[in-house]
Amino acid sequence: MCIQKAELMFSRPILKGFLCFIFFVFQSGSSDKVQKVIAKLGDEAKLPCNYRIPPGESITNYNIYWQTPEKPTPLVVNFYVKDEEDDHIDVRYKNRTKINEQNLTLSIFSVKVSDERTYECIIIKDVLVSKSRVDLSVVADFSKPIINEKPLNACGPVWLTLTCTSDGGYPRPMMLGSINNNTETWHTITTQDNKTGRFQITGNLQHNMTENILVHCSVEYQDLKVSTNFSLSMCPSPPMPPSYGIIIASAVLFIFLLAGVLLRILCYCHTCKYSRSSHPVRSFQLVATAEMTPQQLSNEASRAVS
Ligand SMILES: *[C@@H]1O[C@H](CO)[C@@H](O)[C@H](O)[C@H]1NC(C)=O
Ligand SMILES: *[C@@H]1O[C@H](CO)[C@@H](O)[C@H](O)[C@H]1NC(C)=O
Ligand SMILES: *[C@@H]1O[C@H](CO)[C@@H](O)[C@H](O)[C@H]1NC(C)=O
Ligand SMILES: *[C@@H]1O[C@H](CO)[C@@H](O)[C@H](O)[C@H]1NC(C)=O
Ligand SMILES: *[C@@H]1O[C@H](CO)[C@@H](O)[C@H](O)[C@H]1NC(C)=O
Ligand SMILES: *[C@@H]1O[C@H](CO)[C@@H](O)[C@H](O)[C@H]1NC(C)=O
Repeated sequence: MCIQKAELMFSRPILKGFLCFIFFVFQSGSSDKVQKVIAKLGDEAKLPCNYRIPPGESITNYNIYWQTPEKPTPLVVNFYVKDEEDDHIDVRYKNRTKINEQNLTLSIFSVKVSDERTYECIIIKDVLVSKSRVDLSVVADFSKPIINEKPLNACGPVWLTLTCTSDGGYPRPMMLGSINNNTETWHTITTQDNKTGRFQITGNLQHNMTENILVHCSVEYQDLKVSTNFSLSMCPSPPMPPSYGIIIASAVLFIFLLAGVLLRILCYCHTCKYSRSSHPVRSFQLVATAEMTPQQLSNEASRAVS
């Protein structure tokens, strides 16, 4: 049987075994339920095998394979086969994984973006006794978005350019936003660090600021999100009423002063007319006072002319 070969020759057994397992799976008609595991970038990922070696049984009676389901050559992630060396483990997983001997959970240490794939746990004890699949997804937190405005510290009615940035996260994010609860579209540029796989996202949007605004920027990835609110207020309006008041007050004061001065001049002239009344009024002197009636004025005028 092909499974026996798996124990004898290791260079081909995974492939051979894989083909046999496909056969077994069809035969048993078991549906391949794929479990999902999400691990933080850089942390330890624990992939459950969903099989326990019954108490009292030795693991040495089992062959345990953690591999990928790729055809035709699966990657060997780790395995337990009695007296078998681990030189068949793929270099990507060498020294990075461990199989728990109780529950056969596979630990992958320092998880990388490139570890995202489907894994299979295959348990053989003479025949295939269990096969399960786990999808590993990696996630890394994005930084709290930072919102900037241009021009800086804008407050007046102004055409604003807003920028929102966030980085260090995984997987590829989406940026959503609003201004005063109205949905706005950030025009985004997303870049990926090709070593770590982490993304940086920068969004831009333009807004004609005519009132106080509350800008909301949200970066969403793998059911997670980070967001920031940012508010800009209109400039404190120039103190219009007080300045008008001052202008009006000074205008009134000025008018009163002017009136006072005019009145004084007129009174002075009035008194001088009476103080000079003993002297004959010079014919060219035209004297008018505020108290004069139009009749008196015309009399005065005709007196001056004569
Ligand atoms: C398996 O055992 C390890 C160590 O005791 C534990 O951390 C892990 O959560 C267990 N996994 C399952 C699926 O029970
Ligand atoms: C794994 O560890 C062994 C010994 O600690 C070392 O010789 C080998 O180079 C390591 N392999 C990788 C791929 O890091
Ligand atoms: C935006 O909506 C929230 C709740 O939906 C509300 O509390 C808030 O007052 C709204 N803000 C504005 C500026 O409309
Ligand atoms: C930010 O604003 C959004 C919508 O305007 C609101 O739903 C959210 O609760 C606010 N968050 C904080 C932390 O104020
Ligand atoms: C990673 O980026 C550098 C430049 O930023 C480039 O030279 C290199 O080819 C890239 N590597 C991969 C694997 O894309
Ligand atoms: C901004 O809004 C104001 C008031 O609605 C309008 O008069 C002005 O033309 C707008 N500016 C631009 C550049 O659209």
